[in-house]
Amino acid sequence: MRENFSYYMPVRICCEAGISKKIAQYIDGENVVMICDPFLYNNGVAKSIGDSMEGKNVVYFHDVEPNPSCESVDAAAAVAREVHADCVIGLGGGSSMDVAKIVSCLTTNEGSIYDYYSGGTRTLQKRQTTLMCIPTTAGTGSEVTNVGVFTNRNTHVKMPMVNQQFWPDYAVIDAELTYTLPPAITASTGMDAFCHAIEAYWNKESVPLCDALSMGALKMILENIKTAYDEPENKEARSRMIIAALIAGVSFSQTRTTGIHAVSFPLTAEFGASHGTACSVTLPAFIRISQEQEAQKMLTLAKYLGYDSVDALADGVEALMRSMNMPVRLHEIGVKAEDLEHITEVGLTAAIIQLTPAVMNKETVYQLLKSIL
Ligand SMILES: NC(=O)c1ccc[n+]([C@@H]2O[C@H](COP(=O)([O-])OP(=O)(O)OC[C@H]3O[C@@H](n4cnc5c(N)ncnc54)[C@H](O)[C@@H]3O)[C@@H](O)[C@H]2O)c1
Ligand SMILES: [Zn+2]
Repeated sequence: MRENFSYYMPVRICCEAGISKKIAQYIDGENVVMICDPFLYNNGVAKSIGDSMEGKNVVYFHDVEPNPSCESVDAAAAVAREVHADCVIGLGGGSSMDVAKIVSCLTTNEGSIYDYYSGGTRTLQKRQTTLMCIPTTAGTGSEVTNVGVFTNRNTHVKMPMVNQQFWPDYAVIDAELTYTLPPAITASTGMDAFCHAIEAYWNKESVPLCDALSMGALKMILENIKTAYDEPENKEARSRMIIAALIAGVSFSQTRTTGIHAVSFPLTAEFGASHGTACSVTLPAFIRISQEQEAQKMLTLAKYLGYDSVDALADGVEALMRSMNMPVRLHEIGVKAEDLEHITEVGLTAAIIQLTPAVMNKETVYQLLKSIL
């Protein structure tokens, strides 16, 4: 266990059922831009939150697409600049929250996201705008990380951007917002949170605080995800899932993720798998391989979660995924044998892959992927 470490978590977290309708108290200034996707705008959720903010001028950008592109970011930034936003709210899953993070910076930093990301050389200066994130999926933990993930449409490359300006000022956790999640999204986003927690736990950068957070989050997810999947309006399961995703986010915000996420980027950008699906499809295989360098630590975790061995944990996770109709083989998301080499190469370009507690090179990653084709 690492005994020398630092830990930084500057996000104020407010968690309460219904709290998303009481957020005006946290916002200085009048002009608010709320960033969301078409679903949350068309079903009235964004508007009902906006309407609850008496005295504020709320403008909506509601065109965020899954795995947001740099073009969406620039379009949202244009809206925020035009209204001189004092506060930017990201309402939604990771896609909307990630867009809000960079938009809150671009209100006072000139130019396009491409100036700061994907080859851009400019540095974001201190953000002047309040940033609030309100998750509506129990998954990404983006509300408590300094990461944004964007896709360059020209190159089809999806990569994370890490920046100190991306820590939200507020994470507003309202489980009621997740009652409308359909079972398939409950499953994939919930398993994304599981990946965050376990990748923080076995991470080469793991710290004791994160170990404790991850263990708690993993247990909570295992105990509640199937109920949330089967009973979308089960208050207790929804509340536990959004808190578990939050805790997993706090944990991996310190360590970053590992091979699962590295390999997920091409699976999403090139095969169209949702983020949670692209991550969890390799989860059981990565659990098995984690024993290479963290056998004892992983056994402790497996036992804590009620399994006799790490392989039994991997089997249990796979069975859980099957019970929620999730793909557990790469061919189920359209990957063919001839794609494996390319996925391996792209996965290896993400630096986080080397935080996996196993040797990660062309041969080992290829073999891991082949074992679950
Ligand atoms: N910044 C981070 O730390 C971080 C961490 C992990 C993932 N990510 C990124 O986040 C994105 C994925 O986010 P996501 O998995 O939350 O999905 P998402 O934001 O793309 O949303 C997925 C779908 O769920 C729908 N949805 C959202 N909330 C809903 C609700 N309450 N009811 C019904 N439908 C709802 C959306 O409309 C959308 O169609 C990816 O781009 C991923 O790379 C970021
Ligand atoms: Zn993730």
